[in-house]
Amino acid sequence: MSYLEEMFSLAGKTAVVAGGAGAIGTVMSDALLRAGANVVVLSRTKDSVSAFLARYRDEPELGKRAHGIAIDCGDEKELETAFDQASERFSAPEILVNGVGGNRGKTRFVDIDIATFRDILDLNLTAGLVLPTKVFCRRWIAENIKGSIINLTSMASYNPLSGVWAYDAAKAATLNLTMAAAGEFAAFGIRVNAIAPGFFLGKQNKSLLIDDKTGNSTERGKAVLNHTPFGRFGEVAELAGATVFLASSMASGFVTGVSIPVDGGYLIHNI
Ligand SMILES: NC(=O)c1ccc[n+]([C@@H]2O[C@H](COP(=O)([O-])OP(=O)(O)OC[C@H]3O[C@@H](n4cnc5c(N)ncnc54)[C@H](O)[C@@H]3O)[C@@H](O)[C@H]2O)c1
Repeated sequence: MSYLEEMFSLAGKTAVVAGGAGAIGTVMSDALLRAGANVVVLSRTKDSVSAFLARYRDEPELGKRAHGIAIDCGDEKELETAFDQASERFSAPEILVNGVGGNRGKTRFVDIDIATFRDILDLNLTAGLVLPTKVFCRRWIAENIKGSIINLTSMASYNPLSGVWAYDAAKAATLNLTMAAAGEFAAFGIRVNAIAPGFFLGKQNKSLLIDDKTGNSTERGKAVLNHTPFGRFGEVAELAGATVFLASSMASGFVTGVSIPVDGGYLIHNI
């Protein structure tokens, strides 16, 4: 085995990627697959699972290590079943990516719709972190598996983004809980880290950043670009390296409780 394989190969390991058919989840799942892992994608609908698996039609070597399950990650029982199904299909999962989350539009504070506010907290925190972590860590502790969790934080975890109140709250909490859970689970050899993507055009934010009619950046999009030293939005493929690094216990075995910004320098706040 070469040095690089020893350091980064995930061969023989099973990764579960919640929200794995989404824009970022797809790239992270693909990175884990290409690094040798068996990958089980959890997604809301059968169609999204099928669309993910269809990507590997022409790459059967990868396709046979990919599997998908349509579940609601906000349902504890369904998550238990998914853990069992992943174990039966491949081996007990050792890597969990918490990739469920997203935002819905922006408003003035005084116009917050409380039902929507709660939905966004539930999406990002309950389904996006707490329930999958609870189910997987419970199983990992019982089965003495030293697992690795990768959460999805955001620029909003560090500095508020205007008008996205529930998203700000949820992502600040995601960073906090990444550290808190890392502390709690360290005694069991379980690592909890996060990746904080800068601005990548996805379903959740495209209309905020790009004008549908003209295809040009909106005022908010321009503000983001002005604030990003690299002067561009990220390409989701640029999240692959941090994913493999955090998943590999050889490469990042002493790394826990951190959130790695992949943001073109957005957090530098330089003038
Ligand atoms: N796109 C960005 O620029 C960006 C930046 C920073 C952080 N993030 C975070 O990265 C994560 C992924 O974002 P994305 O842009 O890929 O979003 P996305 O909407 O493309 O993907 C999320 C996926 O999760 C699935 N999902 C939603 N609720 C679910 C549930 N209850 N059970 C199972 N699946 C469910 C959706 O169907 C979707 O496929 C989110 O936490 C997001 O906040 C994204």
